[in-house]
Amino acid sequence: MQHLIISAHPSKDSFSNALVDALSKDSEHNDVDVVVRNLYDLDFDPVLTSEDLAQIKEGRIPEDIAKEQKLLGESDFISLVYPLWWGSFPAVLKGYFDRVLTQGFAFKITENGPEGLLKDKKVFLHTSMGNSVEDYENKGILKAFRQIHGQEVFGFCGIEVAGHLFYPRIPTSSPEMKNKYIEEALGFYKTVLLDEEVVDVVTR
Ligand SMILES: Cc1cc2nc3c(=O)[nH]c(=O)nc-3n(C[C@H](O)[C@H](O)[C@H](O)COP(=O)(O)O)c2cc1C
Repeated sequence: MQHLIISAHPSKDSFSNALVDALSKDSEHNDVDVVVRNLYDLDFDPVLTSEDLAQIKEGRIPEDIAKEQKLLGESDFISLVYPLWWGSFPAVLKGYFDRVLTQGFAFKITENGPEGLLKDKKVFLHTSMGNSVEDYENKGILKAFRQIHGQEVFGFCGIEVAGHLFYPRIPTSSPEMKNKYIEEALGFYKTVLLDEEVVDVVTR
């Protein structure tokens, strides 16, 4: 079992990075191999260029992309940890998807339409936010976040979305509340990661 944690928060003292540390330690504690890729620490280049596209078309994968594809290919379980920025991913994470999830690696186009190629994997998404869950539910876009962040990226590539937790009002949450969120997240991993049992998409 290989657990890949992809994280996209620039601040060491963020809730997101505290969650990454907890998930990583929990995997180690349970003898699960874990690899953490913090896209800021990697200084990951998020801009998909015309050179990239030309090379990929010829089957030549740029070195930094190939490295991330290898780690993704080797993983069984992926955790994605990121803050919600303007209703979306931080730019570096969007760029990671643009550059790493290439045609031929993550999906192919068949006569019947696109087909995901990363079929034997599961992903769990963790989204920290400033707003409340209710606010996005009332606006009718919480479902869209789940769909766009989960299915339209990972589902498209054949990866099963095992769960999606939203952490509300993080900037004004107490340390105790943040710890409670982290403990609850770890609780989900006991079923999802260790017992291989799939849970429904979860919203907090
Ligand atoms: C550039 C930027 C854009 C943001 N956009 C949103 C947003 O669209 N919705 C929201 O609920 N919070 C938004 N926030 C607040 C962050 O999501 C929140 O501060 C963060 O998730 C807190 O968790 P952290 O400690 O992991 O950063 C934004 C913050 C920044 C810096």
